[in-house]
Amino acid sequence: MRIHIFESYEELSKKAAEIIKSQIVLKNDSVIGFATGSTPLGTYKELINMYKEGLDFSDITTFNLDEYYGLPASDVNSYRYFMYNNLFDHINVDRKKVHIPDGETNDVEKFCKDYEQSIQNAGGIDLQILGIGKNGHIGFNEPDDNMDVPTHLTGLTEDTINANSRFFDSIDQVPKQAITMGLGTIMKSKRILLLASGTDKAEIIERMLKQPVVTTNIPASFLFLHNNVDILVDEKAASELEK
Ligand code: PGA
Repeated sequence: MRIHIFESYEELSKKAAEIIKSQIVLKNDSVIGFATGSTPLGTYKELINMYKEGLDFSDITTFNLDEYYGLPASDVNSYRYFMYNNLFDHINVDRKKVHIPDGETNDVEKFCKDYEQSIQNAGGIDLQILGIGKNGHIGFNEPDDNMDVPTHLTGLTEDTINANSRFFDSIDQVPKQAITMGLGTIMKSKRILLLASGTDKAEIIERMLKQPVVTTNIPASFLFLHNNVDILVDEKAASELEK
């Protein structure tokens, strides 16, 4: 695991975008796993600038980490809406190669199996972008005694519902379930990039990195078992580490 600390969120975002760019330049039909949330927004802005400067996204295939279950795709809070609004509508990605979990499916079990199969058929994920929740979740793999391995339907913890309520008119509107890649799906990615920014993440970054143990209480700690992970944090998120 490589840990990189950046002076600012802007620096972190530039580096993350550069890593994604290198991946695409090296292999134009790369399979990229995208994440939603506030953290990758700066990275996505950089990618849009790179597109304007000539970076070609037309051959990549994308898989998103997760989606709220029970929220229409057209809802401004759906992750599908987020991805198009913040990235896909602004680059020349081929919409036929975009995959985002279907939060409206009636057959969750089949959908999850098919999602896993589509990732496999695409040759696996070359580079997966991750944020981290204040509770240590990656995707919607929440702290628990047990972890589901493949893509699955999951309940959201109170912590996550509270954290995500900032985007909704009221906390009651936050969906209580989501479809998420499992830890097994994430761990099969060839390379993983985890981004953390701001003082809000300082405590979980310290919990995860100061004494490396693998525990289902910190789902992100499973990344210690992967051999190609970069953790990019800004100084605020690293502030408890440096004490
Ligand atoms: P954030 O979310 O980027 O909005 O902090 C990260 C996460 O919950 O995984």
